[in-house]
Amino acid sequence: MAVDLTTVLAGVEFANPVFTASGCAAAGQELDTFTDVTTLGGVVTKSVMRLPRAGRPTPRMAETASGMLNSIGLQGPGIEAFLANDLPWLLERGARPVVSIAGSSVQEYTELAQALRDVDGVALIEVNISCPNVEDRGHVFACHPASAAAVVSAVRRNSRVPVFAKLSPDVTDIVGIAEAVLTAGANGLSLINTMLGLAIDPGSLRPVLGAVTGGLSGPAIKPVALRCVWQVHAAFPDVPIFGIGGVRTGTDALEFLLAGASAVQVGTALFGDPTALPRIMDELGTALDERGLTRPGEIVGRAHRSPLFVAPEGPDPLGDASLRAAG
Ligand SMILES: Cc1cc2nc3c(=O)[nH]c(=O)nc-3n(C[C@H](O)[C@H](O)[C@H](O)COP(=O)(O)O)c2cc1C
Repeated sequence: MAVDLTTVLAGVEFANPVFTASGCAAAGQELDTFTDVTTLGGVVTKSVMRLPRAGRPTPRMAETASGMLNSIGLQGPGIEAFLANDLPWLLERGARPVVSIAGSSVQEYTELAQALRDVDGVALIEVNISCPNVEDRGHVFACHPASAAAVVSAVRRNSRVPVFAKLSPDVTDIVGIAEAVLTAGANGLSLINTMLGLAIDPGSLRPVLGAVTGGLSGPAIKPVALRCVWQVHAAFPDVPIFGIGGVRTGTDALEFLLAGASAVQVGTALFGDPTALPRIMDELGTALDERGLTRPGEIVGRAHRSPLFVAPEGPDPLGDASLRAAG
């Protein structure tokens, strides 16, 4: 195959455009027993907070007819343990870490960025802003342009590597939030985090999740994610975007590239098939090859520019009768 999957994001080169999504493969160690993590574009680590966190009450996962709901609530060891154990493992293994950080105040994000600033080997920082802001009545940072911008600006000022802001689809105007974080210095965007949802157990007459609401993920949200990538790429065509949401196959990845993403992240698919990533990479390579392309970059945003399919001249093969039958 003549396809070279090398992908450059905000000036950083990766072997290919297929990454893990934050929270779906921890820091890569368990995944590595199924898939050699050094072959991936990169490993986006579970969002780390300043202090260790137990997460939200159980149950924290619910399957729905269309997608998975989770309310893990950023359970994790905190930045000190992450820097002592998880990150060194990834670096010694030879993987490309994208470190996801999360906080409940601008100060907490600042301290996380400072803790990472002098660590060599971090490829990118991803800022998960889908967290409640304790300084603003618990409103989620990602839902308010000024709060989102304040976090990104603080992280940007304290980082040596490119900073990607991960946006929530639960907003009226995702382009407005993208504009705010880009103006604040984000070097790229990750689109999208989960969508807020709810499942009710008709047996117990209660919400299924202990935390009541949770984030919906998987193929159910792919059309929403594609729409977000499309809208943001149309407004900011030069900004690198990770497309995230329901990627299961190389064709899914191809669709995200066509919409304007430069790379994809895979989350929920890994729970059903922890070997999905190399398959998706292979399928994407084949899909590009079949279209006569040699690099993923050649197709980024192409759906915005491809001419519409025009039917060849000639009589409608179904004829007028079919139109009448269809009403
Ligand atoms: C169990 C679970 C945990 C997650 N944890 C995080 C997290 O810590 N930080 C984050 O930014 N996104 C987190 N996400 C969101 C995913 O990274 C991703 O944006 C979302 O699930 C959509 O992609 P998917 O449909 O491929 O799963 C989590 C998703 C799931 C399912």
